[in-house]
Amino acid sequence: MINIAVLGYGTVGSGVVEVINTNQESINKRAGDEIHVKYVLDLRDFEGDPVQEILVHDFNIILQDPEVDIVVEVMGGVEPAYTFTKQALLAGKSVCTSNKELVAKHGAELLAIAKNNQLNYLFEASVGGGIPIIRPLNSSLTADEITEITGILNGTTNYILTEMAEKGAAFEDVLKDAQEKGYAERNPEADVEGYDACRKIAILTSLVVGEQVDYEDIHTEGITKITEKDFQYAKALNASIKLLGTSKKVDDTFYSMVAPVMIGENHPLIGVNGVFNGIFVHGNVLDDVMFYGRGAGKLPTASAVVSDVVDAAKHKDSNIPTIWDEKKTKLGKFEDLPNKFFVRMRDKGLGEEQLSAIKNAFGNVLYVKVPEINGELAFVTETMKEGGFAEQIAKFDDVYSVIRVDF
Ligand code: HSE
Repeated sequence: MINIAVLGYGTVGSGVVEVINTNQESINKRAGDEIHVKYVLDLRDFEGDPVQEILVHDFNIILQDPEVDIVVEVMGGVEPAYTFTKQALLAGKSVCTSNKELVAKHGAELLAIAKNNQLNYLFEASVGGGIPIIRPLNSSLTADEITEITGILNGTTNYILTEMAEKGAAFEDVLKDAQEKGYAERNPEADVEGYDACRKIAILTSLVVGEQVDYEDIHTEGITKITEKDFQYAKALNASIKLLGTSKKVDDTFYSMVAPVMIGENHPLIGVNGVFNGIFVHGNVLDDVMFYGRGAGKLPTASAVVSDVVDAAKHKDSNIPTIWDEKKTKLGKFEDLPNKFFVRMRDKGLGEEQLSAIKNAFGNVLYVKVPEINGELAFVTETMKEGGFAEQIAKFDDVYSVIRVDF
């Protein structure tokens, strides 16, 4: 029998217990042993819920019980999750988690501790919820040099942007509706400002390069400035606007960014709508591969956590190698990243004078017209480096929007 302890009986923790109860027989068959939830740790009580019988409030009970083989950390946040994870690994217990903050910050260190103790630290659910992406990166895409990984990594913002695109609605109205439906948190900052997607692309990039990528080093923009008018122009360009987390190799250097991007009808992520996530990977021999599914939610996320529990049970006495060194990788400087930009600015009525200033700054731009919108000029620049673009756009006043373009 493999005994597990679940830290945190919130959405994901209760999902883990439910998944194990629902699919007990097939999970045990795949694990090659019986998976038994021995403890659930939470500060709260759950009177009337059968979990109450195995509920504990003190982590030391779990830590000191030699029968506990695997700890499932689904508490979220860095502390006390970091301390508990480290203690569990040092006490000889493998750890499976959905905690992206902790994995992004201390993943390399926790993996090293697991390796030194012939244990496992597994985090499939930390990126893309139920979508298998961590295991494919570690085990399946090993023949390739990965040159790009780009994802719609946040369900809340993808829902908001999809609603804005389909209904022509304003950001604030859709956010309110998403909060009412439970798709957005009461405090939506981590999602709408791109911080959540940033941690996820930091984890994916660390696995791609095999070294530590600090999320603080990734240029991150959210979706709060995107307007209905931006979507009208996107439509005119047969495009849509998505919040992308992306890492691309340009001349042997990886450049990472989280930002809203206008993507065209041929982009592999164009059909990823609503609360769904999609992750696009380009390998030098495989070419393109896509991963798609539910990036959040109780049961999809729990499904990924339990798949890690099965893997940890199958590798009870051996470490599954994961290449993620604690050494910090050298990302390319954001200012050197080449991009194209969609720009909207006030039409000052100066005619040729303004047009030639635009040409001098941004090259042979592609102008876009939307019949219902007057008094502004909208265009897509030539490919420019971020630093050069920032220098040029600062020379213009009355700029309404800047959105990166990938088509
Ligand atoms: N808030 C996150 C999302 C949850 O919307 O994708 C999953 O990490």
